[in-house]
Amino acid sequence: MRERNRQGQQDRSRRGGRAAGKTPQAGRQPARPATQPRRDYEDDDDWGIEPGERDSLVDVPDGVRLQKVLAAAGVGSRRSCEELIGAGRVEVDGEIVRRFGARVDPDRQVIRVDGKRIPASADLVYLALNKPPGVVSAMSDDRGRRTISDLIGDRSERLFHVGRLDFDTEGLILLTNDGELAHRLAHPRYGVLKTYLAEVSGPVPKDLGRRLTTGVELEDGTVVADRFRVVDRAGSRVLVELTVHEGRKHVVRRMLAKAGHPVSRLVRTQVGPVNLGSLRPAATRRLTTAEVGDLYAAVGM
Ligand code: URA
Repeated sequence: MRERNRQGQQDRSRRGGRAAGKTPQAGRQPARPATQPRRDYEDDDDWGIEPGERDSLVDVPDGVRLQKVLAAAGVGSRRSCEELIGAGRVEVDGEIVRRFGARVDPDRQVIRVDGKRIPASADLVYLALNKPPGVVSAMSDDRGRRTISDLIGDRSERLFHVGRLDFDTEGLILLTNDGELAHRLAHPRYGVLKTYLAEVSGPVPKDLGRRLTTGVELEDGTVVADRFRVVDRAGSRVLVELTVHEGRKHVVRRMLAKAGHPVSRLVRTQVGPVNLGSLRPAATRRLTTAEVGDLYAAVGM
């Protein structure tokens, strides 16, 4: 997948051709006295574009100017976004656009910078939550237990949680109203990696990692760990880190129990490219533009 993305980026910059490395300053920029204020963001603001090099993107009536969309999505200041556009690093629906005034629809069009998709729509929300133990991974609970919605409070958007953690498991849960992204992140087909820290009873034999990465038979089929390492040993308790691409119920607890090391505490520390980091229990944070771009890339969006 990574190789394919890299190839895609190379193809895209090749498609940018001669225009790709050229900045507005370097091209046929009309002479403009330094003291004269820039008439910024005009629709025909396509300095440096040779006739015939202009993209075929049709401006969206009442659309938003491309540099404004980029800046609002957190890519950078408007000035630095203009530089990215001028350098041929911005694509709209697969086409490099080097006009500052291009008007786009951030809710419908796919915009990429250096091949990485940006969260362009202002309506889309992407959050990381550190779920504490004793919270149900649901928006409501008919038994009256604490749920995710108790942690995120009243919000105008309808957020989906990406996958679930057990009632007693802690750690990272992603929340978004981007339905397609949420669906793909949770779908086994995309095999998004999830990393857990597990406190288990020790001592842990040397071959535990080999056994887990070779495959453990569970009642609903074999499960294979993608990575395993011992992080710390403290008396009879051992802290291990395990990465799986599985979303099956209780899968980490079941595989470690089957291997003879029942879990006493489980924390999810990473989902795909997103890290729990130092997020406090019960706290949420917005994902960065780069993190959202990496999530899109992880599921081929
Ligand atoms: N595996 C588990 O055993 N529990 C979780 O909550 C997640 C993965």
